[in-house]
Amino acid sequence: NYYGIIMAGGVGSRFWPVSTKSFPKQFHDMLGTGDTLIQKTFKRLSALIPKENILVLTNEIYKDLVLEQLPEINENQVLLEPAMRNTAPCILYAALKIKKQNQEAVMLVAPSDHWIEDEHAFGENVQAAFNFCHQNNALVTLGIKPTFPNTGYGYIEFEKSSVELKPVIQFREKPDYETAKSFLAQGNFLWNAGIFIWSVVSVIDAFEKHQPKLINLFLSGESVYNTDSENQFILDNYGLAENISVDYAIMEQSDNVYVLPATFDWNDLGTWGSLYDKLDKDENNNAVVNTRLQSTDAFGNMIKTKTNKIVVIDGISDYIIVDENEVLLIFPKEKEQQIKEVLKATTDKF
Ligand code: GDD
Ligand code: MG
Repeated sequence: NYYGIIMAGGVGSRFWPVSTKSFPKQFHDMLGTGDTLIQKTFKRLSALIPKENILVLTNEIYKDLVLEQLPEINENQVLLEPAMRNTAPCILYAALKIKKQNQEAVMLVAPSDHWIEDEHAFGENVQAAFNFCHQNNALVTLGIKPTFPNTGYGYIEFEKSSVELKPVIQFREKPDYETAKSFLAQGNFLWNAGIFIWSVVSVIDAFEKHQPKLINLFLSGESVYNTDSENQFILDNYGLAENISVDYAIMEQSDNVYVLPATFDWNDLGTWGSLYDKLDKDENNNAVVNTRLQSTDAFGNMIKTKTNKIVVIDGISDYIIVDENEVLLIFPKEKEQQIKEVLKATTDKF
């Protein structure tokens, strides 16, 4: 009864120039381990879920990349979105499809671009959540101990108790800086890892309660799911869905949310700085991927080149240096959030 969906339709613009609209970060080997992020995600899930029950949701422009990088899955396990509508529509669509196949299904929703070190602990956490969702009408999220007031995450206030799955008092997506700071000070808040577990019945129920328009749209095609007419229905209707993330659509609104504090290390690899944090460093705290570095007086840099290039630097510290096809990026680490804007201003090409 276990199913998994991998969401792989995001663009990852703060990782430019490696991550581009035509080749986003989930399809890159960001860590230099030999596997791309989506390949790592698929391996992680297939240790817990039968391979044929894993669906990949992505924009139609990434179809070939998915099939090429995940040769183990069948073409009909890749659900293609004709428009970018964020995560709520794709999750609802997948849930309705799975429910038609199996009413009892419990599903794991996973982003395609995260770093998780301890796969064993991840498996134990997911298994505990699977068991809980078999028995309860619950929306479960995995929570991460926050370390700073990051405004790019969802925050989860939970009831202090000794049970493993804690009832959630409130879920707040991407609060402003002051609010995030006050959450951290209160102590009973976790970050939302963006990894969810629920039964198909519970998640569909939540959409029914909180997103009637969205559910009506996708229910209108229910009779054709898993048939030859499904593709045409999606082509004609997907673009009509509201552009909204699952966090705003149902998590903030529901009163049956539970959080399982994760026992594994997690990093969402959202920016060059977060990648830097995860990589091994040389004696001068430089992190290098695919690069042979010769440096004097250079500390704390994040350096990535496409081929095994020699990079020679002197007197440069705390910079991001990325050499990728037509683009060479040299950018202070502390300004990394601005890469998104630079990209917009630079050219439409990427
Ligand atoms: N199929 C599909 N279609 N996938 C999508 C789409 C889409 O339109 N948009 C985004 N995704 C995928 C991304 O590739 C990523 O794997 C995942 O969905 C989450 O999207 P992000 O755009 O990365 O979300 P976020 O980082 O702003 O916020 C979410 O993740 C945080 C943790 O990393 C939220 O769930 C936050 O609450 C959470 O803290
Ligand atoms: Mg993200």
